[in-house]
Amino acid sequence: MIYNDINFNQKTILITGGAGFIGSNLAFYFQDNYPDAKVVVFDCFRSESTFTNGNLQSFGHYKNLIGFTGDIVCGNLINKADLALLDDYKFDYIFHQAAISDTRVYDQEIVMKTNVNSFFDLLNKAKKDDDVMIYASSAATYGSLPSPQTVGKEHPENPYGYSKYAMDQIAYRYARENPGMTIVGLKFFNVYGPREYYKARTSSMVIQLGHQILDGKAPRLFEGSDQILRDFINIDDVVQANIKACNPKQNGTYNVGTGTPRSFQDIADILQAELATDLGTEYIVNPYDGYQMHTQADITMSREYLDFDPITSLEAGIKTYIPEIKRLHGEPLD
Ligand SMILES: NC(=O)c1ccc[n+]([C@@H]2O[C@H](COP(=O)([O-])OP(=O)(O)OC[C@H]3O[C@@H](n4cnc5c(N)ncnc54)[C@H](O)[C@@H]3O)[C@@H](O)[C@H]2O)c1
Repeated sequence: MIYNDINFNQKTILITGGAGFIGSNLAFYFQDNYPDAKVVVFDCFRSESTFTNGNLQSFGHYKNLIGFTGDIVCGNLINKADLALLDDYKFDYIFHQAAISDTRVYDQEIVMKTNVNSFFDLLNKAKKDDDVMIYASSAATYGSLPSPQTVGKEHPENPYGYSKYAMDQIAYRYARENPGMTIVGLKFFNVYGPREYYKARTSSMVIQLGHQILDGKAPRLFEGSDQILRDFINIDDVVQANIKACNPKQNGTYNVGTGTPRSFQDIADILQAELATDLGTEYIVNPYDGYQMHTQADITMSREYLDFDPITSLEAGIKTYIPEIKRLHGEPLD
């Protein structure tokens, strides 16, 4: 799908975090639609290291990139010598997706060093090369503020959300000081779709519930899940937002959601309809205090300044995702 009249052919494009979920989808988007673009993926790829919460320190997986024919640079954001490997290139566009994406990492030092410090380096690179900079912010910047979540009214409640909030502040200042630059932050809501599998326990509930159902088990949800709503956004619409952000009417940070919240129960029910099962639902007690019960992106500004127009309903997004959910069922995570 071509989203605007930018011709990315002959352009040099950096995708940090390109071995991860959103980054690898962007890499294939350019490869498939702009075969003469030069696409460079920078990612540390996963090691065996875990955080104290038991999750891997990074989720980049080579299997997300099988078939990708661009350049791969393996490097860590917090290592300046690794970032210097990118000096061999002069980029036109940077899509900065690499981050500790796990919202339940509470080691503030590592989250800030990884997500925030490296952003200065990449902004300086973008300034030097005159690149367009599109970076991943997050709905986590809003914490548990009531819906609709609106840019400019943030209240992060964990180190991850704060790190993205800090990136937004840096981007605002940098854009003010460098008015000729294009710098756009995208606050993704709950993204789902192909190439998220290797995020394991941090992947979306769409694939996790899908695999529970394929195991023959009733999907497990918190009690009252028909009243727990999120703004679930399909990966294709996230790619759309990234492409449209390259030609913004104005720099800034923009919400990337559908504007239409749906419940976790809806996901389970749509999956069961698609998979032709009738397993019911197993309800468990929600152990979290202060759990966010409702998110809904206010996308007024995203529509106006990016021309962003989410087109995939939850029903349609899950339907097209089903073959991939089936293919990955039982696939080892390592
Ligand atoms: N998926 C979502 O629902 C969602 C929602 C809001 C924001 N985001 C943001 O979007 C971006 C992409 O998210 P994703 O879902 O693709 O996550 P992901 O974890 O699949 O991708 C992040 C990638 O960054 C790489 N990475 C992590 N630390 C690194 C480091 N120190 N050096 C180099 N590479 C490193 C990982 O290996 C991984 O490939 C992230 O910045 C994330 O915070 C995602």
